[in-house]
Amino acid sequence: MSDNKVILNYDGNAYEYPIVDSTIGDRGIDISKLRDQTGLITLDLGYKNTGATISEITYLDGDNGELYYRGYPIEQIAEKSNFTEVMYLLLNGSLPTTEQFAGFEKGIKKYNFVADEMKRLIDVFPRSAHPMGVLSSLTSALTAFNPKAVDVNSKEDMDHAAEMLIAKFSHLCAWTYRKKMGLPINHGDDSLNYVENFYKMCFRRPNQEFHLDSTVVNALEKLLILHADHEQNCSTSTVRMVGSAHTGLFASVSAGISALWGPLHGGANQAVIEMLEMIENDGGDVAKYVEKAKNKEDNFRLMGFGHRVYKNFDPRATIIKKAADDILNSLGIEDKALDIARQLERVALEDDYFVSRKLYPNVDFYSGIIYRALGIPTEMFTVMFALGRLPGWISQWKEMRLHNDPIGRPRQVYQGSAKRDYVDISAR
Ligand code: CMC
Repeated sequence: MSDNKVILNYDGNAYEYPIVDSTIGDRGIDISKLRDQTGLITLDLGYKNTGATISEITYLDGDNGELYYRGYPIEQIAEKSNFTEVMYLLLNGSLPTTEQFAGFEKGIKKYNFVADEMKRLIDVFPRSAHPMGVLSSLTSALTAFNPKAVDVNSKEDMDHAAEMLIAKFSHLCAWTYRKKMGLPINHGDDSLNYVENFYKMCFRRPNQEFHLDSTVVNALEKLLILHADHEQNCSTSTVRMVGSAHTGLFASVSAGISALWGPLHGGANQAVIEMLEMIENDGGDVAKYVEKAKNKEDNFRLMGFGHRVYKNFDPRATIIKKAADDILNSLGIEDKALDIARQLERVALEDDYFVSRKLYPNVDFYSGIIYRALGIPTEMFTVMFALGRLPGWISQWKEMRLHNDPIGRPRQVYQGSAKRDYVDISAR
């Protein structure tokens, strides 16, 4: 290897592959000519070493536990910014001026309602339906009410599509909550900001006057900011993959919601609380569950532990752990699950199994404790994650289309049967 290329010696020949530079972090080997030149493809299950794209949105350093949105460290953003500003930042690449911020908010409020027919769709789901299934279906259905395809070459069209989806998606998330709780469905209130509006659509009771609780609103702002983007994770890669076929924005995001639902990804926040409740109901023996997680004969994993990229600590988890303490204190809530989580973290972090594999609490380990304190039911946790991740999905979809990334189409190493002749059923 020299500074800017890698040389591959294979079958008596030497092939050169250029290195693609980065601003910071991983550089890539451009192997686009590999198959044509050598007849070989790369095999990388789970894409552990594969760069799927070149991006300018989010940077994360897994060894040092750093996460930047458009260059700004997550700690600064979580402390000083708000979710609407973060959405603007991710979508546009820079922090907004006062005028730009006002214009963006106004653009979102223009779409602060959802067609009434959508209510009939939500009515047909049983109350027992998982909110993520409902959310994914409703997001897909939105296409029917907004049939115009996004003209990706028009900045105005792109901006409107993003603002429309951002506005309407908060309704769909709130509606899945109302459905779960058996409450009538609310429309938005333009006098409120984005997070306050979402909060009101969720929590306003038909029989009571509504009051905004600033502790809850601030907690939601922080949680949504922390989930806003995380570069090429499973759901974002799904959005980009689906969108690479020039599928519309809403349908691409709907696919991302399905990917996020899985317990190894966003669904982990629900799985963590269920695990903590299980440990509590089983007498609170934390060590027993740490042993189970280490046992290779047992499928049990410590949910909320481990991360594909973070191998030291997840900076989002550090912020959320502190926020969980603060929020429970200021709401005057004592939650046994928080004690169990703390014990679990302590025991696991002293255990060689977790230390040697670099398994640390991730963003989902403490987030559910906060959602629970805010009165959000367990099955809704991943919907909250989806609401936070939406600007990331849209920004990544937009970038993929503007960079004109080719359709995603991996290859495979085939190990099935070689060519053979069809045998008639009577002769098998
Ligand atoms: N509990 C017990 N063992 C674990 C865990 C865990 N949570 N996570 C990984 N391991 C072990 C795994 O068994 C393997 O051991 P060995 O080397 O002996 O075979 C080793 O650690 C490496 O694991 P891996 O599955 O190869 O790692 P990965 O990078 O493919 O998976 C992960 C990352 C997040 C899917 C995984 O750590 C996991 O399943 N964690 C629990 C689910 C979770 O919390 N997911 C949320 C991730 S953060 C938010 C998000 O992405 O949405």
